[in-house]
Amino acid sequence: MQMADIPRVQEIDRLSFPTPARASLFEHELAQNDIAHYQVLGEAEELVGFAGFWLIADEIHISTIATHPDWRGQGLGELLLLNLLFEAYKLPANMVTLEVRRSNEVAQALYCKFQFAEVGIRRRYYRDTGEDALLMTMPSLNARYHQFLESQQAALFQRWSGEG
Ligand SMILES: CC(C)(COP(=O)(O)OP(=O)(O)OC[C@H]1O[C@@H](n2cnc3c(N)ncnc32)[C@H](O)[C@@H]1OP(=O)(O)O)[C@@H](O)C(=O)NCCC(=O)NCCS
Repeated sequence: MQMADIPRVQEIDRLSFPTPARASLFEHELAQNDIAHYQVLGEAEELVGFAGFWLIADEIHISTIATHPDWRGQGLGELLLLNLLFEAYKLPANMVTLEVRRSNEVAQALYCKFQFAEVGIRRRYYRDTGEDALLMTMPSLNARYHQFLESQQAALFQRWSGEG
């Protein structure tokens, strides 16, 4: 993600979350937060998704992931998560954590597909709605998991070549 991507990223963010992030948050993440890693999918008006994480010691914490509503259900969220996890593996990091709204079954299904497990609940974590967060982790970002990621990526590309 570059500074020039922020307006489009914000547009997708606004369509994706109950309380959108301010532009200054993304600016801060890109310019000043050394532990932040952000990626986008596509560019300019064709930027269709973004994802980010923080690297803390040997763990990554996924801070955000979203695809444009017009482009959902086509494997792009999965591609973003794949790219993020490949990057984390290369760093290297050993463990992945994230929080997800209890009601967000779509995102939970995506994380479960990538072997994340629920390990705890943060009560009333989201200040905007008072909703609980589920804490999910993928504890072993090892060579075996990397192989799993490669097979998921191959399956995704296979699916797209079938659709094309
Ligand atoms: C979560 C999000 C990024 C998924 O993106 P997407 O592009 O729609 O996802 P994909 O098409 O790649 O689907 C990947 C997996 O997600 C799950 N999923 C996607 N759409 C789903 C739906 N309508 N119902 C249930 N599960 C769904 C499935 O596990 C799917 O795998 P499958 O295709 O093998 O069934 C997207 O819905 C989004 O931006 N949501 C709003 C922001 C958000 O909630 N982010 C997560 C914060 S924790």
